[in-house]
Amino acid sequence: MAFIEYRGFDHIWWYAGPWLYYLIAFYCALPFLAYIVLPYFTPKRKFDSKRKIITLFVLGDIGHSPRMTYHARSLSKLDYFVTVCGYLETRPAEDILDDVNIDLKEIRPIRNSSNLPFLVFAIKKIVLQCFQLLDLLWEFAGSSDYIMIQNPPSIPILLLAVSYIKLLRLNTKIIVDWHNLNYSILNLKYDNEKHPLVRILKSYERILAKYVDYHITVTNAMKEFLINEFDISHKKGRNIFVLHDRPAEAFAPLEQLNLSKSEIVRNHEVFSDIPNLDKYRILVSSTSFTADEDFNVLLDALKDYDTTCVADKLPPIVLIVTGKGPLKSAFLARVKTLNFSDNVIIRSAWLSYEDYPLILASADLAISLHTSSSGIDLPMKIVDFFGCGVPVISLSFAAIGELVKDGENGLITRADAKGEVSESQEIFRLLTEAFTDHELLQKIKKGARAESNLRWDENWDNSLSKLFPKVN
Ligand SMILES: *[C@@H]1O[C@H](CO)[C@@H](O)[C@H](O)[C@H]1NC(C)=O
Ligand SMILES: *[C@@H]1O[C@H](CO)[C@@H](O)[C@H](O)[C@H]1NC(C)=O
Ligand SMILES: *[C@@H]1O[C@H](CO)[C@@H](O)[C@H](O)[C@H]1NC(C)=O
Ligand SMILES: *[C@@H]1O[C@H](CO)[C@@H](O)[C@H](O)[C@H]1NC(C)=O
Repeated sequence: MAFIEYRGFDHIWWYAGPWLYYLIAFYCALPFLAYIVLPYFTPKRKFDSKRKIITLFVLGDIGHSPRMTYHARSLSKLDYFVTVCGYLETRPAEDILDDVNIDLKEIRPIRNSSNLPFLVFAIKKIVLQCFQLLDLLWEFAGSSDYIMIQNPPSIPILLLAVSYIKLLRLNTKIIVDWHNLNYSILNLKYDNEKHPLVRILKSYERILAKYVDYHITVTNAMKEFLINEFDISHKKGRNIFVLHDRPAEAFAPLEQLNLSKSEIVRNHEVFSDIPNLDKYRILVSSTSFTADEDFNVLLDALKDYDTTCVADKLPPIVLIVTGKGPLKSAFLARVKTLNFSDNVIIRSAWLSYEDYPLILASADLAISLHTSSSGIDLPMKIVDFFGCGVPVISLSFAAIGELVKDGENGLITRADAKGEVSESQEIFRLLTEAFTDHELLQKIKKGARAESNLRWDENWDNSLSKLFPKVN
């Protein structure tokens, strides 16, 4: 009969030597190190006052992150001490730079300078970003009362911030401002929710979202999404706040700025060399020329408009497209091949910070080709158009009704999924209607004016007063 002889464990020590003792001792000490020693060394509050401290993180250019800079302004008004961490690619607004309550911290963008293949570059970028972000978290997380993260992009910032704060048991509260869902942006590439990468990114966002203390969303639809799809418990309605975007002060109707349309149109170079400019209707659009906005839809509609223009006595159009991005040259090439007559003039421009609102405000009508990757976010540009009192034609998607009311402050296309009525036919129809039916245009213009009156500050105070109470 076989049996196992008990010989004790002494022989292990014999072979192992003292390093094993050290290893075991280190292992036993881990919790102590992680929970007591490390937090002791992470920087604590630098100010011994009652002023609250908040750090905002955005993995994008601060100058092009209007919503995060509005948060910074509003929090500064409440006398918070605000640090904004992000890329400094363009010069942020002057008032942000001048504000004594607001500090900017640079996150250096990581560029594809040595022509690495996609995967290698992606890994390098994430690793380098992790180091930078950990450095910033080390400096700010322990000393802040709140950390606010813009999502997307959520890799790797969401994971780092949540694990850093929760593992070290810091008292810092994490707030995520959901502009959109990163997995749905990735899905634009695959167009398949079941694709493994899309599912991984969705789980990443869903799991980490559960550890977040407060959520801010851009639409009601996104709030419902967080509750239903991400299982965020919304106890007593206290941890998800809907904050719709509102226009900045610079976006205002021309009358309020005491400027005249003819003055702007006469003097700005975008409109140069257009004979009989006063006969034209001005249509504006703004874009970052990425794959999620299909400008061919608009160009096809304008081509139809061009062909029927003379016969149907339609007014001529000048379209100003502002912005720059990867598909801009393709857009300009297409414009050339379409060979428009003088009745449809298309100009593109990259306008300065000061000129952009003025050109928008000079327009008769705006058009947005945003379709929303998730269906539950809203384009900031429509908010800006409304700020200038300009009505908009928009493509239809799930959340659009939270901003554009069809026939009241804009017009929404009604293309059908079967493809019998295409988006470009719809845009053609709406352009024709708006530019021939004077009453309709006046009505939606009035609606857009009304939208223009509700501004950011008031809206922010109303929506977030429970999260950031006024201190007296
Ligand atoms: C980096 O540049 C190389 C060569 O220009 C290109 O092939 C590669 O796709 C780029 N990688 C990324 C992530 O853009
Ligand atoms: C996440 O969103 C950002 C836009 O904010 C985008 O540039 C990035 O490619 C997205 N990440 C993935 C993995 O799709
Ligand atoms: C515009 O003019 C009116 C009256 O002249 C004045 O009250 C108002 O402050 C001016 N607005 C701006 C922005 O200059
Ligand atoms: C463009 O249109 C004009 C008339 O509007 C015509 O004379 C010309 O041949 C056209 N060019 C091309 C390349 O189609």
